[in-house]
Amino acid sequence: MVDLRVNVAGLELANPIMHGSGTFSTEIGQVIDINRLGAMVAKTVSRDFRSGNPPPRVAEVEGGMINSIGLPTKGLRHFLETQLPEYKHFKPPLICSVSAETADDFANMVADVSVPGVDAIELNISCPTRKPGGGNFALNEEHTHKVVAMCRARTEKPIWAKLSPNAGDVVGVAEAAAAGGANALTVANTILGLKIDVNRRRPSIGNKLGGLSGPGIKPIIMRMVYQCAKAVNIPIIGVGGIVKVEDVVEYLLAGATAVQVGYATFRNPTVMPALIDGLAAWCERNGVARVADLTGAMIDEAPADTYVAAGAALG
Ligand SMILES: Cc1cc2nc3c(=O)[nH]c(=O)nc-3n(C[C@H](O)[C@H](O)[C@H](O)COP(=O)(O)O)c2cc1C
Repeated sequence: MVDLRVNVAGLELANPIMHGSGTFSTEIGQVIDINRLGAMVAKTVSRDFRSGNPPPRVAEVEGGMINSIGLPTKGLRHFLETQLPEYKHFKPPLICSVSAETADDFANMVADVSVPGVDAIELNISCPTRKPGGGNFALNEEHTHKVVAMCRARTEKPIWAKLSPNAGDVVGVAEAAAAGGANALTVANTILGLKIDVNRRRPSIGNKLGGLSGPGIKPIIMRMVYQCAKAVNIPIIGVGGIVKVEDVVEYLLAGATAVQVGYATFRNPTVMPALIDGLAAWCERNGVARVADLTGAMIDEAPADTYVAAGAALG
């Protein structure tokens, strides 16, 4: 039997597959067995109630979807008093995702959610439609280092820093997050985009700009996971465009220890158990006894000389 267990910075997961923040809630338990998930990643919570962005909040595009939900939340108190006890009916570790406008409040939020029952804290420092200094810290190395270090000082829980694919130098930001004390990196949030409804000559979503997710972004995020895994010594959680088991394997080979899935769950709410079973079957077929052995196992040779390679191809 294949050993699907992985260890993300000291947190043991039964398998490497979990939803991305904002794409999971306990209602999914009506169609899947939540206890099969590697972990439960909660929707990002902010301190106070937020109504989110004006509708429409999502639009389909070729290769994925664009969204600007605007981080609606009933706030921290509701999370701690109502949502946390609901999550604790289930076995998988709980990852609490937090966001704030300032580094100070980010650190306070981290302290406030460092309660029993929360197994790790994901810092959503990368919401694509927020300002660089106000929620979208991961566009910049200095902001990232500062906010992660301030959060580090306020909790003993593992910190997963969720990076932004919109940063100019994502590797620099990854290094800054690791230096600030992150235990793992979630790579990555959505790519800022625009879709126009040509009949109405208006943006398709209410907030104008939104975050692109789905299969179209997968090679871009794959490249970032690969580069970040080479640059830092902490585990990476790959997220972007996974729709099938080979996508999961690809992320692991690129250097991820675990993966998150968002878009695919909108297309098929029962995709998660299919991916978990599919991963076990893929490993079985390919003689892989431990899924953890796939992490970073891409055969990584220097590109061949063009003429030598072309000659070899000709025989
Ligand atoms: C509808 C929707 C809501 C999301 N909400 C959040 C959120 O609250 N916090 C967060 O960190 N990421 C959020 N994300 C980003 C996802 O967690 C994930 O990083 C991104 O969608 C890329 O993965 P995918 O291509 O599998 O969808 C959201 C994505 C979608 C599609």
